[in-house]
Amino acid sequence: NGIPHIVIADPEATLADILRNQLGLTGTKVGCNEGVCGSCSVILDGKLVRSCVTKFKKIPEWACVTTVEGIGTPEKLHPIQKALVLYGAAQCGFCMPGFVVSAKALLEQNPSPKREDVRDWFQKNLNACRCTGYKPIVDAVMDAAAVMRGDQPEESLDYHLPADGRIWGGKYPRPSAVAKVTGTAEYGEDLGKRLPSNTLQCALVQAKVSHANILKIDSSEAEKMPGVFKVVTHRDIKGKNRINGLVTWASNKCDGWDRPILADSKVFQYGDAIAIVCADTKEQALAAAEKVKVDLEVLPAYMNALEAMADDAIEIHPGTPIIYFTQGVVKGQETKPLMASAAFVAEGSYYTQRQPHLTIEPDMGFAYFDEEGRLTIHSKSIALYLHALMISEGLGLDASQIRMVQNTAGGTFGYKFCPTIEALVGAACIATQRPVYLEYDYEQFITYTGKRSPFFTNVKLGTDKNGKIVAMETDWIVDHGAYSEFGDLLTHKGAQFIGAGYDIPNIRGRGRTVCTNHAWGAP
Ligand code: FES
Repeated sequence: NGIPHIVIADPEATLADILRNQLGLTGTKVGCNEGVCGSCSVILDGKLVRSCVTKFKKIPEWACVTTVEGIGTPEKLHPIQKALVLYGAAQCGFCMPGFVVSAKALLEQNPSPKREDVRDWFQKNLNACRCTGYKPIVDAVMDAAAVMRGDQPEESLDYHLPADGRIWGGKYPRPSAVAKVTGTAEYGEDLGKRLPSNTLQCALVQAKVSHANILKIDSSEAEKMPGVFKVVTHRDIKGKNRINGLVTWASNKCDGWDRPILADSKVFQYGDAIAIVCADTKEQALAAAEKVKVDLEVLPAYMNALEAMADDAIEIHPGTPIIYFTQGVVKGQETKPLMASAAFVAEGSYYTQRQPHLTIEPDMGFAYFDEEGRLTIHSKSIALYLHALMISEGLGLDASQIRMVQNTAGGTFGYKFCPTIEALVGAACIATQRPVYLEYDYEQFITYTGKRSPFFTNVKLGTDKNGKIVAMETDWIVDHGAYSEFGDLLTHKGAQFIGAGYDIPNIRGRGRTVCTNHAWGAP
């Protein structure tokens, strides 16, 4: 960015790590940390690189690095940044610094790109955005290029309130857009760098099998590892050690108290958190997490609803049937005779797959006690009061003793309707009485946050001779994974939405919520 720096770093350290942690340039974001999302893009000696996979040992002396901070500031935006603001491209914004830098590198090489060139460039350089669908980004780059060539005035990128004062339907900039395109918006990991120096860094001990009885958890060796302050297990949790799954209907055969904060008697899914190692550094916490010994009796894992529904399958949550909720739908006349007399009948079986939400920013959180003694939890939660209620009893607190804060979040798309990391950092903070910080790597994020649940759906439609639907029969099975939260609510959606919009007069249907050992279901 035109400022000379002396950098003394581990040869194996990445450029992203040096920029963010040693030079304080947190505008460069790290998403996947595998070189495939582009949020960490910087220009190194004129070439666009992904800084999370660029090792310090490969960087020549006197290298010139341009990050988002070197391109424009909130007071003096670069035309690329102005255009991204104007076109509404900065939504969650986590990808934006990478796109700003990537677009700058493109326009330095090719000042007059076609739209296809812009798309190809972002594709080739692996700049991913999960919010926009890319069109606003390409629009912005095309306009910025025109301004930089002198083909249109820079003022064309300024927002002007229409003469009639109407904002609705226009390009009124998102209030946070300038911060997002300049890298000054602070997401959770950025805030984490400004926590007090006594903050403990956490690492999870997680299950590597999908279904097992826990026989013993031995953390004695891990406790002796360098830098370790405490290994937190279920024994340290003073409350119910369960997250409240918020059963919606009384006919639900699960009571909703099935998801442990820290596993105690059983592993229900791959990745279940068994212990939290709290240490001075993340590296120490990760090293000690490897030393926690967990004795397991591995049980059959049911990785989809049909396997879990087999006659010989055992209950995953003892005492709760595998099919724990049934939702019927009855509308109009009996459908069987209508199907028999229908002019045409069509039927099929469908599977809609489990979906990870794949936000560019992985999951993270931290916790501390505030000046009023409240357990304060920062995370990507999109349901602050709801989550306080869902985790409070499990932690042994009243919800009023918990203060939830939403960080600027790099996308959630629904997965953060479920608590993910909140109870874990809460438990670690209570057990250690110190501020604690926990971030997931991208694999943890994929495997140990809620997913959209698969549906196995049978649908039969009967029509009159003109093709108008006169009757529908449905049978849907929701594979809701290991935990029940929002499972009944989701199964209810099948009754609401299968065939919705067609004004079908006669319907009979049944939906079932099924527990499996796959990742738990989130909206
Ligand atoms: Fe691009 Fe959210 S704005 S990932």
